[in-house]
Amino acid sequence: TLTQAEKAAVVTVWAKVATQADAIGAESLERLFFSYPPTKTYFPHFDLSQGSAQLRGHGSKVMSAIGEAVKNIDDIRKALAKLSELHAYILRVDPVNFKFLSQCLQVALATRLGKDYSPEVHSAVDKFMSAVASVLAEKYR
Ligand code: HEM
Repeated sequence: TLTQAEKAAVVTVWAKVATQADAIGAESLERLFFSYPPTKTYFPHFDLSQGSAQLRGHGSKVMSAIGEAVKNIDDIRKALAKLSELHAYILRVDPVNFKFLSQCLQVALATRLGKDYSPEVHSAVDKFMSAVASVLAEKYR
């Protein structure tokens, strides 16, 4: 579980990048598909070329969902309940891929925030994304 300081750090980061959320979402997915090509197999019906409308649209959805988790940081499970069902039962996403996406998102955040992406902030975001991932993956158990 996240400490109060870690929760505050995540909320602050999210507020700082709010206006760039869509670009960050698209970049995170581009990085995901480029660095971990097997992740593309979940999206056979998508045009995954850089900057495609589907990629940007999906990046935006993913970022709104993470934004909901930030807004409900004390009850992420409830905030993401529907998405958990979708990823586990319908999409059957291998949980390792949540880690990959978390990494890619963090690179997109770090390149924008520079020094503001301090070790403390990095660690808080990493823990938060692990919490998001465990909620999205928990239905497998
Ligand atoms: C769909 C969020 C990780 C594969 C979605 C949607 C959201 C979302 C909001 C749209 C749901 C809807 O339209 O109702 C997230 C979040 C993630 C995450 C917050 C982690 C932080 C992943 C990963 C994969 C994945 C790691 C696979 C590598 C998919 C697929 C769809 C989907 C295939 C359906 C796309 C479509 O046909 O429109 N996800 N996702 N997701 N997600 Fe995820």
